[in-house]
Amino acid sequence: MSLPVDLEAVARQYRGFAVATRGQSACFEEWSSGVAGDEEVLAWIAALPRGKQQPNLVFAAARWNGVAAPGPYAGLRAALLSDGGAVRATILERRTQTNEVGRLATLVPALARVAAEAGPLALLEVGTSAGLCLFPDRYDYAWPPLGTLAGSGGPVLTAPAEGPLPVPAGPLPVAWRGGIDVAPVDVRDEQAVAWLETCVWPEQDERRARLRTAVRSPARTRRRSRRVTSSTSSTSGSPKPAGTAPWWSSTAPWPCTSTGPDAPGSSGACAASSRPAAAAGSATRAATSCRR
Ligand SMILES: C[S@@+](CC[C@H](N)C(=O)[O-])C[C@H]1O[C@@H](n2cnc3c(N)ncnc32)[C@H](O)[C@@H]1O
Repeated sequence: MSLPVDLEAVARQYRGFAVATRGQSACFEEWSSGVAGDEEVLAWIAALPRGKQQPNLVFAAARWNGVAAPGPYAGLRAALLSDGGAVRATILERRTQTNEVGRLATLVPALARVAAEAGPLALLEVGTSAGLCLFPDRYDYAWPPLGTLAGSGGPVLTAPAEGPLPVPAGPLPVAWRGGIDVAPVDVRDEQAVAWLETCVWPEQDERRARLRTAVRSPARTRRRSRRVTSSTSSTSGSPKPAGTAPWWSSTAPWPCTSTGPDAPGSSGACAASSRPAAAAGSATRAATSCRR
């Protein structure tokens, strides 16, 4: 099929997503392949602003508006082509967002090592979403077959491991935590949490369950969000306590732009280790600050 240039660009994006979802979401693989070969649907998507044409967002918006997933491509197609404006409005209003506490299972051995050498940690996460990853000390861990860390009273996060993993000997000491995000998610907002869940791929039931557990965890009651302006330091008023070891983490695109992550040019990978101060200073449109 030979397509006009603008449709070909969208088709390429969806073909790429079909490859990315292979083995992880049969539904999204089918939907992406379906879109890539469907000129009418490609035209519908091409009429969206460029930053809003991404498969994750279009598929999540369709699901948000009732399209069954897992479900056949025909359901997505019908919803988009007969859309009275609801799916399009969702796409324009929202952005794809996740918050995956499972990542902590890979970070905690390193965090524990820093703490063992430097003392209690001050955690600052850029791109913190709902701030769920700011509570690594509220989980138990299993790194089969190498070891476990128990005693937090929280759920278990598991990551199979191999090689010389430094299994932590004791609980992780966290003295301070703070998060920065252009669009912080308030876990008390049911709609916001429902959207987070909708952004999890259809077949990833385990991931969705982990998200629900994390949102319900007692840690949420201690979390508070506040908005800050671009001229305000995200951590002003909540200085890192003396004697804590800073640990800076980011999964957000970098650099930050004043129009947010969907803006052209804002999609570079974050240079976590080399630019922490610059990134933290620039990404100050909104912040979540949490204390023990
Ligand atoms: C993929 S999510 C990851 C959330 C969380 N860190 C995790 O690991 O589960 C990326 C987050 O980065 C935020 N974000 C994107 N661009 C940003 C920027 N320029 N500055 C601050 N936050 C940003 C998004 O709003 C989103 O919440």
